[in-house]
Amino acid sequence: MSEMATTSLSESSLREILVDLAAQARRRRFEVAPNPCVGAAVIAGGQVIARGFHERWGGPHAEVEALAAAAASGVPSSSFEALVVTLEPCSSHGKTPPCTDAIRSSGIRRVIVGALDPDPRHRGAGLKLLQEAGIEVEFVPRSSEIDRTAPHFLRWVDVDRQRRPRPWTIAKWAQTRSGQLTPPPAIGGGRWISGPDALREVQLLRGRVDAIVSGVTTVLHDDPRFTVRPPGDPSRPPLRVILDSYLRTPPDCKLFTPPGLGEGAGPVHILCQAGANAARHVALERAGAKVTGLRSSEEDHIALRDVQEWLWEQGVRRVLLEAGPQLLSRHLEAGFVDQVRVYTGAVMGGEGPTMAPWLTRLRFAERLDREVADDAVLESFVLPSE
Ligand SMILES: NC(=O)c1ccc[n+]([C@@H]2O[C@H](COP(=O)([O-])OP(=O)(O)OC[C@H]3O[C@@H](n4cnc5c(N)ncnc54)[C@H](OP(=O)(O)O)[C@@H]3O)[C@@H](O)[C@H]2O)c1
Repeated sequence: MSEMATTSLSESSLREILVDLAAQARRRRFEVAPNPCVGAAVIAGGQVIARGFHERWGGPHAEVEALAAAAASGVPSSSFEALVVTLEPCSSHGKTPPCTDAIRSSGIRRVIVGALDPDPRHRGAGLKLLQEAGIEVEFVPRSSEIDRTAPHFLRWVDVDRQRRPRPWTIAKWAQTRSGQLTPPPAIGGGRWISGPDALREVQLLRGRVDAIVSGVTTVLHDDPRFTVRPPGDPSRPPLRVILDSYLRTPPDCKLFTPPGLGEGAGPVHILCQAGANAARHVALERAGAKVTGLRSSEEDHIALRDVQEWLWEQGVRRVLLEAGPQLLSRHLEAGFVDQVRVYTGAVMGGEGPTMAPWLTRLRFAERLDREVADDAVLESFVLPSE
């Protein structure tokens, strides 16, 4: 692999393009994690004619987006000089086909990358495949290093984590202005803290995870359905996983009602303590749940480590934890939360415990505070405790 750029652009121009692509890609960090933030551009006539980004987890990769934008630009593909990409293209099947395939079939003869894949299992593999296909590969050092563009990805591919893999977990909760998760009974039937725009964001998020995890107390209190409704993508609804040590989930709860038109409802899994009440087990399976017994923890709930392993075995890689303060706290204590999204709605008062102590205790990284209509939103990655 050459370190000298040989397009009509100088190495410093290429570095500028890569730095800019990396900065733009980073804006999508909470949407793509645990995937890395990646940006790509197609060069023709010494200029960037198209850009593409990995916009959301499970969605097309930046290279594919940039090549599609270039194809739609009206510039003839015969004049495409190079594809510039902030990270080595992937060469294995994940949620999408390998980018090396898309690059090979695009006819592009030169690929310029700003960083190698940090995952030792894949490092260099994409570039080797491209070179074997006769594509010239170049590297521009000090342009889009992964520890600056996507430090969360380094935590995801860390060897210790790979040794005991667990899904990337996003803890999402809504709190009142006083920081409580259960609103006063007078508000919207005692349930809605967030405004309609925030609720739409949550639907989008639900459509971009493999599983939603919650606790039996939330089921008993709120009777949620955990479905995906537009603007979320209902075509691949996440598993709905309820942690319920003693099988207290009512077989006639709304989780088991068929989804409405245009709604997606994933399979319902109830995780309980092994040997939990057999009659309830049968009743819940009749209602449509899959019931799985796991080991119990010292506190006599099901053990969260076993839950993590079970989720991983089901192929779950990105989880949305939509639970009450008990399960949220247990996950945070165990270090099983990688990312948070906290909505503070325009509602006063409230009931029950708050998560406020956690908001000061957690080690946040790359935190973003924003607003959606009347709600304040905190998004952040969570670093492991020291
Ligand atoms: N504002 C929000 O974002 C939001 C979201 C969800 C819920 N809520 C509210 O939160 C309240 C319920 O709060 P919650 O904290 O009691 O509910 P939760 O966290 O959803 O569920 C707690 C239950 O999960 C079960 N569980 C299973 N394994 C566990 C483990 N390892 N550790 C801890 N619990 C485990 C326990 O029951 P078993 O021992 O029987 O298994 C426990 O009682 C409701 O008022 C609801 O409206 C608010």
